Parts: sequence; structure tokens; C-alpha cells
Amino acid sequence: MLFNISCRRFLILCTVLLPPCVFGFSSHGLPTSSFNESFVRLFGNDHVVFLDDGGKSVEISLDRSSGSGFASQLTYLYSYFSASVKLPGNYTAGVVVTYYTSNAAEHKTNHDEIDFEFLGNTGGNPWTLQTNLYGNGSTSRGREERYALWFDPTQDFHAYSILWTSAWIVYYVDDVPVRVVRKVDAMGGDFPSKAMTLLATIWDGSDWATGGGRNKVDYKHAPFIAKYSDFVLYGCHANPAGEELAADQTCGDIAADLNTFNGLTAEERGKMENFRVKNLMYSYCNDRSRYPTPLPECNAGGKSS
Ligand SMILES: *[C@@H]1O[C@H](CO)[C@@H](O)[C@H](O)[C@H]1NC(C)=O
Ligand SMILES: *[C@@H]1O[C@H](CO)[C@@H](O)[C@H](O)[C@H]1NC(C)=O
Ligand SMILES: *[C@@H]1O[C@H](CO)[C@@H](O)[C@H](O)[C@H]1NC(C)=O
Repeated sequence: MLFNISCRRFLILCTVLLPPCVFGFSSHGLPTSSFNESFVRLFGNDHVVFLDDGGKSVEISLDRSSGSGFASQLTYLYSYFSASVKLPGNYTAGVVVTYYTSNAAEHKTNHDEIDFEFLGNTGGNPWTLQTNLYGNGSTSRGREERYALWFDPTQDFHAYSILWTSAWIVYYVDDVPVRVVRKVDAMGGDFPSKAMTLLATIWDGSDWATGGGRNKVDYKHAPFIAKYSDFVLYGCHANPAGEELAADQTCGDIAADLNTFNGLTAEERGKMENFRVKNLMYSYCNDRSRYPTPLPECNAGGKSS
């Protein structure tokens, strides 16, 4: 509520005094949800463990018998999602930890997806963060980026957040925007625009995750445990069939807040550029062997109108 009030006030100021004005998103001030309230087990049931902290945190693990994962109970049509994640340490080659939105269960041939994927590594080497998105089944057009992180993600919890509106997708790490995708008309259905569920999983990605599949999962180091906490699901609930515009009526304020986003502030853009100069390892936008002509959004990221 406070958030909404201050946001409204800020908006009025914005409109009156400072156009064009943009609103920066972060999880501060937004309500967190307990695991029980908001999620269900997806697979690897006994490998999904609640921590004894009032349902705030959950651990998922991978061992020889199974991986595991959980999913939000509700589907959302546009949202700000956030969670703090701590990754397994030591030798994690081939291990994949994810935190993403998808509607693949409801839309088998034309699903949407917005991903954070953490790719494990051989002992002592850092995890790689990958982001990606698909829209309306555009799986032949991967939009991957990979980054090094500026901290060791196995030592502490760090916040990974996705802002998804009808016009923008922003990926944040500890409130630093690391990637912006702006919807451009030429993307057509490739921009995710059907309701999605939030999911988190840990699984054996031996075929591709590390060294292009050269370094497999070594179960001598199992179990591999990923911890999640501080969930924020700030979005409009949509019906589980994932129909567009099935949002419930109570979400008007949230939708309005999300729609105030119209690009990063100059300060946020500076932080993002600084991050990308130092940490970007791969972007599909720069990969001329895959995409001789860059995909249409490649030159539109990060700028507000
Ligand atoms: C969550 O729900 C499960 C199943 O209903 C229950 O066993 C568990 O105690 C609950 N945990 C918390 C922290 O509320
Ligand atoms: C990593 O390995 C070291 C040395 O073998 C051990 O002390 C430590 O507990 C391990 N850490 C994790 C997170 O497994
Ligand atoms: C999404 O895919 C469906 C099924 O292939 C198609 O009918 C629809 O027109 C597509 N939507 C957009 C916006 O491209």
C-alpha cells in the first residue's frame, strides 16, 4: 500500500514537473510471500525442503536419484518477480539452477519464457549467469546472454529479479539492471505476452551446461543444494489457462505501477553499462555467425522513449 501511495505521488510529481520521468523498480517495500502461500512442488518432491523460518526459504537439491523444482500456484500476466538465491559451492560442473517464467505447460507449441539460468563449473571456477527469453514458441531464435558475476554467488544470497511489462523486460541482479529488452514491433509474437508461472529448478545439464557439455555432473560431489528466499510476486493474476487479459480486477494498481516503467533512469543505465562492459561474456546480438542480421530488438535495449 505504502508503495502504491508513494508511487502515485511520485507519478504526479513526475507528470507535473519532470517529464519524461521514469520509475525505477526494486523489491524494497514490496511484500514478500512465504513458500507455502505462493508455490507448489513441481518435481523431486522430497528434494524440495522448507527451511524452518516461517516458510520464507526453501532448498532444492540434485543428487543421483533426482533433481527438483517448484512453481508458483498462480499465473501472472506481467509482473515484477524477485527472489534471493544462494547457489551450491565447490565442484558443480553440469549442474543447472534456474529461476524463470514459463507457460510451456499450457501452450505446448507456442510458449513464452523469461529465464535466469545459472551454469555450474569445475571446482574453484565461477558460476556463469545466463539470461534468455522466448515468445510464442520462438525457440529457434535463442536470445541468450552470458555474464560473469561480480561476487561469488555460492557464498551469500543475492537478489535476482525480473520486471516484465507489456513493453519491457528488465533483468536485475541485486537491483543492478543487467539486461533490458524493449519490445519493438518487428519482434511480433517473440516478445512474451501471455500469462506465465514462475518456476525454479535444479537439474542435470551434463549435455550442455559446462564447457559445451565436456564437463559432466560428478555425483561424488552431490547433493547439490540451491537455496531460495525472499520471494516477491508483484503482478496481476491471470487465469491458469493463460488467456490474455484475464487479469483479476483487484490488480489495477499493480498494473498501473508496472506500466509506469518506461525505461531505465540515466543512473540505472550507467550501472548497467558499467556491468556489461566488465561482465558480459556473450550476447546473441553480437553473434554474427548465428544471426548475420541481428534480431530486431538488438539496437533498442536500454533507451527510454
Ligand atoms: C507448509 O505447508 C506444509 C504442508 O501443508 C506443512 O507441513 C508445513 O509445516 C508448512 N510450513 C510452514 C513453514 O508453514
Ligand atoms: C567445499 O569444499 C571444502 C573443502 O573440501 C569444504 O570444506 C566445504 O565445506 C565445501 N563447501 C560446500 C558448500 O560444499
Ligand atoms: C502466436 O502463435 C499462434 C499459434 O502459432 C498464432 O496463431 C498467433 O498468431 C501468434 N501470435 C502472435 C502475436 O504472433
